Amino acid sequence: MSPAASSDRDRQKQAAAEAAAALVENGMFVGLGTGSTAAFAIAALGRRVREGLRIAAAIATSERSDAQARALGIPMTSFAERQRLDLTIDGADEVARGTLHLIKGHGGALLREKIVASASARLVIVADDSKLVDRLGTFVPVEVVTFGWQTTQRRLEKLGAAVTPRPGADGKLFVTDGGNITLDCSFGTIDDPAALERSIRTLVGVIDCGLFVGLATQVILAGQSGIRHLTRS
Ligand code: A5P
Repeated sequence: MSPAASSDRDRQKQAAAEAAAALVENGMFVGLGTGSTAAFAIAALGRRVREGLRIAAAIATSERSDAQARALGIPMTSFAERQRLDLTIDGADEVARGTLHLIKGHGGALLREKIVASASARLVIVADDSKLVDRLGTFVPVEVVTFGWQTTQRRLEKLGAAVTPRPGADGKLFVTDGGNITLDCSFGTIDDPAALERSIRTLVGVIDCGLFVGLATQVILAGQSGIRHLTRS
């Protein structure tokens, strides 16, 4: 992508993020996502908090989002203190038109993202419009326990996936915040995301996968012609 296109895309991500941060109200418990678009939303929320918004507290979906939020003065809590959230703002790697099923986790935080999304009354997804697809089909990250991961890889291959263990920066495998590893699985175009999610989750060794079915309540998409709010149909 050219520098101009990438700064255009950043402006779009920021516009979507600002629109989502504007949905946060005094007293809310808020979930904070992970990724470049979620980072814009955390920055926008930090600004609103500085300007006087009084949220109850937030829970982040990754160590890096947690550190960003704390640095901005956003009050943070944990699931030990609070188990239900009012609103979570997160990014996505793909959004299916109509159903708003998602693929998430290309940024490596799918498990905490799914736990936070599942604890939220509303999950608002922020993205630029390149993420909108007719049918999900990019690779699905699968978080697996380290012990015996090669056997889990075989099981995923038997399900039809082309599997790539995700590399880390140090030449070893990428390790998630939960201490697990990620197998990136290409299934081609996914006809039935709910069935595939169920099949993946029943495999021994699998913790969870990046298919988010029926979790998004709203998607804020930004493109060249402005912002669109999508709801499930
Ligand atoms: C993090 O694990 C992901 O689910 C991100 O939310 C997703 O990869 C979107 O990231 P960007 O906003 O950086 O595209």
